[in-house]
Order: sequence, then structure tokens, then C-alpha cells
Amino acid sequence: MEIHLRIAMIGSGYVGLVSGACFSDFGHSVVCVDLDESKIKALEAGVLPIYEPGLGELVERNVRDGRLRFSTNLSESIAGVDIVFIAVGTPSRRGDGHADLSYVYAAAKEVARFATGPLVVVTKSTVPVGTGDEVERIVRDVRADLQIDVASNPEFLRQGAAIDDFKRPDRVVIGAESERAREILSAVYRPLALNGLPLVFVGRRTAELIKYAANAFLAVKITFINEIADLCEATGADVQDVARGIGLDKRIGSKFLHPGPGYGGSCFPKDTLALLKTGQDFGAPLRIIETAVSVNDQRKRAMGRKIIAACGGSVRGKTIALLGLTFKPNTDDMREAPSIAIAQALRDAGAIVRGYDPEGMEQAKAMMPGVEFSAGAYECVAGAHAVALVTEWDAFRALDLGRVRELMAEPVFVDLRNVYPVGDAAALGFCYVSIGRPNN
Ligand SMILES: NC(=O)c1ccc[n+]([C@@H]2O[C@H](COP(=O)([O-])OP(=O)(O)OC[C@H]3O[C@@H](n4cnc5c(N)ncnc54)[C@H](O)[C@@H]3O)[C@@H](O)[C@H]2O)c1
Repeated sequence: MEIHLRIAMIGSGYVGLVSGACFSDFGHSVVCVDLDESKIKALEAGVLPIYEPGLGELVERNVRDGRLRFSTNLSESIAGVDIVFIAVGTPSRRGDGHADLSYVYAAAKEVARFATGPLVVVTKSTVPVGTGDEVERIVRDVRADLQIDVASNPEFLRQGAAIDDFKRPDRVVIGAESERAREILSAVYRPLALNGLPLVFVGRRTAELIKYAANAFLAVKITFINEIADLCEATGADVQDVARGIGLDKRIGSKFLHPGPGYGGSCFPKDTLALLKTGQDFGAPLRIIETAVSVNDQRKRAMGRKIIAACGGSVRGKTIALLGLTFKPNTDDMREAPSIAIAQALRDAGAIVRGYDPEGMEQAKAMMPGVEFSAGAYECVAGAHAVALVTEWDAFRALDLGRVRELMAEPVFVDLRNVYPVGDAAALGFCYVSIGRPNN
């Protein structure tokens, strides 16, 4: 089996671009394709269309070494390649929460139309169980003449740590129904296997379900600790200590036990919803996930009410500063960010909402109408009646709290990520409220 492969990546967003760049860094020849001309033009000009730590250097190096290029032209891009990955978006379908597979199916049709020889087509997008069967039907309908194998290789990278996750994953899941697909995917990931990382070979449907089960489990884990945090608040216990106390149990594990304003982002909200729909469609309801989804939905606005309560019960006419707007640090992604619902709840209650984020301002401006935006953290808190730390960017871990206190009109600090020790802000005269910890 040839070890140096020719790969086309369809969709050059967070997943496609990172995966394409990392595959080229493994030594393969990669072309990243996207419909969005502005994205491809930017990439060709050496400008990244997204913020992801380390990605700029990785792309630059592999472009320079001739292993990575970009194109809007699928037909010329897939001529002669060994393997095509589909990494297009699978957002929630408006109205019913099913995954919208129209981008995946459109990409599959185009691949079949332009394929020039035997090809392995791999879905990297997160897709409901059975989508691979449909992709196979689509390509066979268009090209009965070609040998096209369809496989599933769901992606588990986290935005903000995507390159490290891609190069040192806990596992790579490969769902394949043919020896040829298994062989080619083994060759793609050979550098990782040589490093001792586990490649998990399963059936295609199983691979599709693994991805949703993983995301749903993590969403439930976050929701679990958030509810425990509420109980801590009601009883005077400290959720940080509870999380440590349970997380040291290896059967539980300490990851994803950080209480906060509810999960958001481009994956958990849509993937939990899509999995619920799959469960319903197959008559196997998933009640734990159903409850987690509804608890999480309510939590985001509840965080708005928490800020209002910290302000004495009313924010009418008051200025509230939100520090951190993206759904998590180290990304510019604003999809389903808790800050959106929090800002809306505050504005509904008559507050003037101001926001600042180190990387997400451009996306936030488009998604948070009526919010004022500041050029920096201190500008944002100046004259504010309360500040809420919504996303735990490192830049907010080292705030000069004394300066923040001096700049603010009223000393209310709502720490929705438990970044600061309880005593620090209180010692400076703040009314300090955090999640699930006794205030003093
Ligand atoms: N973002 C993450 O952290 C993450 C992690 C794991 C899995 N996923 C999954 O990966 C998939 C992609 O997610 P993303 O965050 O990269 O999405 P994204 O929106 O950032 O990127 C998708 C890209 O696909 C392009 N596209 C759509 N149709 C196309 C076509 N026919 N031809 C060429 N390009 C096309 C779009 O223009 C866009 O640039 C989703 O299914 C998502 O659930 C995402």
C-alpha cells in the first residue's frame, strides 16, 4: 500500500482545514476544497479564515513544502486522488432538530460526478447513523461504473486545541465495510499508528453512532456537574471540591466536571438534538440526553437571572459588561455561545449590555444585535454596574481586579467560570458571585 496518499478534503472549515493541514503534515498531498470563494482566496493569500492556535504556521509550512493547496474547483481537485473526506457542516435542520444532511449529500453527488478512478469516500462530518448507507446509494446511482467505497471517520478534535487533538488523539475511529477502505484509511493514519495511538476499526454505522454517543455523554457530564453546582449553592457545599472529590475516582474522571453557564458551541447542542431525533426515529428514546438538553437550554437564560440577582434584582438602565463571548476560549466560534442567551436575558430586563472577546468580536457583532462592543477588557468594564466573566480566556485570568474595581460604577463581579478564588475579589470590596461555591 502506497504510504504517501493524495487526499481531497471537501469543506475547509474548522474540521476540514485542521484535518487537511495535519494530513499534509503527515506527508500526504492534500487539496482543501470549499464553495466559499472568500475562504479559499484568503487561504491562498496566506490568511486564515478562522482562529485556531498553531494552525497558521502549520498551513504555511505545508503550503511552502508543496503538500497543501486550496481550491474552489472540485472537479480538478478530485482528479486522481485516492481518498476524499467530506467535512462539510451538518447543522440542525430548522424546525425539527434533525441533522441537516443536504451539504453532505450535495458533496457526495459532486464527488461521484467528478471521480476519475477508484476512490474511498469518507464522511468526517458528524452524521446520523445510516448516513453512510445513503451516501453509498447516492454515489452508486451517479457512478455505477466506478469502484467507490464509502467509510466513516468521525472527528473528535476540540476547537482551541485542534491540532494537538488531531495529532495526538485518544483514538481514531474508522467505520468501514470493505478491506480496501480499511487499508487506505490505515495508510492515511499510519503516522499515528506508528506512534502507538489506537485506530479503532468498527462497522460504518457503529462509527457514526460512536461520535454522537461521545458528544452526548460529555454534554450529560457537563449538565450533571452544573446541576450539582446548583445543589451546592442551595446547601452551602463547594462544587469545586465535589468535582475533585468525585473526579479522582477513575471510573468518573476529572475532565468535563467544570461547572459553568451551560454547554454551547458548534457540536454539543446540535449533536444532542440530532441524536434525540435518531432515538425517536428508531423507537429507542434517550431520556437522559433529553433531560440534559432541556436543563442546558434553561441554564443559559438562568445565568442572565443570576447576574440580575447579583445586581439586587434589577438591571434596568444598568450597564453590564460581559467578558468573553465565544462558546469557549481559544476560538472565534460564536455558535450557540451561552453569552448570546445571557445578553438577551439582560437586554430583555432593560440592561445596557457591553461585550468584549479577544478573538470572537467579528462573529459576535453579527450574532448579538443591540450589544455594545469594547476594544478591551478594561474599556468594557469602565462605568459598568456589573461584570460577568462568561468565557475563561487566559487574558481574563490575570485581570488587575483592583483596576477593574476602580473603573466600575458598582462592584458586582459574576464569575460564571469560577476563575478566581472566592476571597480575591471579595477582598477588593466586590460583591463576588460564582458558580456553586460559598461566596465567602
Ligand atoms: N467544529 C468542531 O469542533 C467539530 C469537531 C468534530 C466534528 N465536527 C463536525 O465536522 C463537520 C464540519 O464542522 P465545521 O465546524 O468544520 O463546519 P464549518 O461550518 O466551519 O465548515 C464547513 C465548510 O464546508 C463548506 N461546504 C459546504 N458544502 C460544501 C461543498 N459542497 N463543497 C465544498 N465545501 C462545502 C462550507 O463553506 C464551510 O466552509 C460538522 O459535521 C461538525 O459537526 C466539528
